[in-house]
Amino acid sequence: MSAIRPLSQKLNHIAPSATTVLNERAIAMKREGIEVYNFAVGEPDFPTPDHIKEAGMAAIRNDITRYTPATGVLDLKEAICHKLSRDNGLEYEPDQIATTSGGKHALYNLLYVICDEGDEVLVPAPYWVSYPEMVKLAGALPVVLETAPANSFKVTAEQVRAAVTPKTKALMLNTPSNPTGMVYTPEELAAIAEVITDTGIYVITDELYEKILYDGHRHVSIAALHPRMQEQALVVNGLSKAYAMTGWRLGYAAGPREVMDLVVKFQGQTVMHPSAITQHAAITALTGPENFLPPMVRAFDNRRNYIMDRLENMDGVACARPGGAFYVFPDLSAYRGRRRPDGRAVEGSLDLAMYLLEEYQVISAPGAAFGTEGCLRFSYATTLDIIEKGMDSVEEGLSALKS
Ligand SMILES: Cc1ncc(COP(=O)(O)O)c(C=O)c1O
Repeated sequence: MSAIRPLSQKLNHIAPSATTVLNERAIAMKREGIEVYNFAVGEPDFPTPDHIKEAGMAAIRNDITRYTPATGVLDLKEAICHKLSRDNGLEYEPDQIATTSGGKHALYNLLYVICDEGDEVLVPAPYWVSYPEMVKLAGALPVVLETAPANSFKVTAEQVRAAVTPKTKALMLNTPSNPTGMVYTPEELAAIAEVITDTGIYVITDELYEKILYDGHRHVSIAALHPRMQEQALVVNGLSKAYAMTGWRLGYAAGPREVMDLVVKFQGQTVMHPSAITQHAAITALTGPENFLPPMVRAFDNRRNYIMDRLENMDGVACARPGGAFYVFPDLSAYRGRRRPDGRAVEGSLDLAMYLLEEYQVISAPGAAFGTEGCLRFSYATTLDIIEKGMDSVEEGLSALKS
């Protein structure tokens, strides 16, 4: 008998999702009866609002359970156009919208249709873990742009300009940011928009956290900041975070027709559309009341204030105050090289995250997974009780590290 044929080599250079691995470890520890303080959660700990759930159930009852057009039903695309106009000052027609199975799916589809083998995509670090891997999956090369803590981990227009080469296809931009929670100002975005239009590259603007903002921060889409942006901005958004609908899987992309026509072609031959039931619920989400949002944001804000207070009072911890999303990204590089009670040295963020997990049952996400060593990401999309106990453990764990 012949040996079974080998599998594809295509995924050899793709890293598994670090946050997913940590979450799975948290679930396994819980199953073993160990109490864990899970700060690796990437989703609101609130239920989907009742009226949206009802719309999903009504869709099932009314047999809205069949195939839809590849990039979604017209009513949903119209609701998205209306949302983009109302919230972001962006004018699109329904044929410029693709609905997808989550924002992640929209990001990947856009990268796939704009990139050729060997193209470069600029990825400012710290980045959302999936960006570089998605770029590679699309056949392109991620070019990481290091940002400075002193600039709140935001990429500058000058940095983008200096990094553009003839091979550059796009810049990935994420505001509010996962993992840092930083929010770009309209002035910063306008300066980047100028570089985008000067150089002719695309910008993929990931705006998933636009509605989770604090301290009077305002979300502005870079797509609204220059007339030519309509041709070069690929806007990605979705319902996961703002509407607490992560499991429903509804994202969308908006962009110029040439790009979106390719997305239609690509989706038509691959995943097709998000579930018809989800699409139906999404129409209700986008056109219905948003009064559930302020209490959710207030709850996140209280937790943010608490976790910032705790971190600011820990030795050797520096943390920029997030203006949005539900993450903090403290710099703990002061602990690099320090020794655990068992004598082992903590060499980097992964080591530190593993130490806090194994010895103090705290699940965080290592900065290395986001392209920035020395930091850890803590999500505060969890109860104040867990945050309180978890921060006690972090403090204890850090003070047990000896130089
Ligand atoms: C920055 C960012 N973009 C996109 C996504 C994708 O979200 P989804 O695929 O659930 O819409 C996430 C999820 O964590 C995210 O943090």
